[in-house]
Amino acid sequence: MNFPHRHVLGIKQFNADELNFILDTAESFKEINTRDIKKVPTLRGKTIINLFFEASTRTRTSVEIAGKRLSADTVNISGSSSSVVKGETLEDTARNIEAMHPDIIVMRHSASGSSEYLAARLDCAVVNAGDGTHEHPSQALLDAFTIRQHKGKIAGLKVAIIGDIAHSRVVRSNINCLNKLGAQVVVCGPKTMLLPGLEELGCRVAPNLPEALKDADVVMMLRIQLERQGKTLIPTLREYSRFFGLNETNLKLAKPDAIVMHPGPMNRGVEISTAVADGPQNVILDQVENGVAVRMALLYLAAGGEKMAED
Ligand code: CP
Repeated sequence: MNFPHRHVLGIKQFNADELNFILDTAESFKEINTRDIKKVPTLRGKTIINLFFEASTRTRTSVEIAGKRLSADTVNISGSSSSVVKGETLEDTARNIEAMHPDIIVMRHSASGSSEYLAARLDCAVVNAGDGTHEHPSQALLDAFTIRQHKGKIAGLKVAIIGDIAHSRVVRSNINCLNKLGAQVVVCGPKTMLLPGLEELGCRVAPNLPEALKDADVVMMLRIQLERQGKTLIPTLREYSRFFGLNETNLKLAKPDAIVMHPGPMNRGVEISTAVADGPQNVILDQVENGVAVRMALLYLAAGGEKMAED
């Protein structure tokens, strides 16, 4: 397939065929991660810079592992140890990094639109590892990959996404991705954590948790994004947990074979009970495992993989 994208900025840039192509490409890379020697020469000679201005465990580690398993040279820069703390702008930082001829810059930043801003100014490929409350495309893709792995399909499934919808970049990318792949997405959360016009993104807003969970094939729980709220949006965590937390009792409202997902980091006892987080329906660590394969696919495609394969 001709993959016409230089950057990976958001799910909105891809059509369904392209999303499926990324998932299929990830499928072809997945097996490498379980070999004794977990390395192939695919991106030998390519340089990937991971520029993270926000905290990350899963995304940052898996992007680095993905690059290394494809034999790229990977360099990690965190905002707090960069010259940004001395007042250097994002654009100057990126231009200085680009002067060293990286092939890809993977960036996480607190400002929505920052990846697009960078992509418009740099010659190298930019991969968005999460920008503000805007998009987290690789998370949505690894979620779709995990749903496909466990359910064999995505089209026609009911996916319930519960929690802090307003401040979640994961939910925006997921609604868009799952919609394009034919799922029905239902969201639910406290009124203070919803947004006006959510339905326009392509989802239904359920009035309460039982309604959202009813007959769901997939239940995706989200963390309260305290770092983005700037004010208190719920009376207490105990009350939040009572009305919007997933536990063994309310999970029974979903289909018996429903899978439970969480992008992490989890707040056990708040949005999800430990019994459910570690229970038989959880696929949370499968999401993390699949994140490596999906990011291998994205790095390969952003480095011009399809073109390399043709040459
Ligand atoms: N899901 C996710 O983005 O996790 P990290 O913040 O740990 O990267």
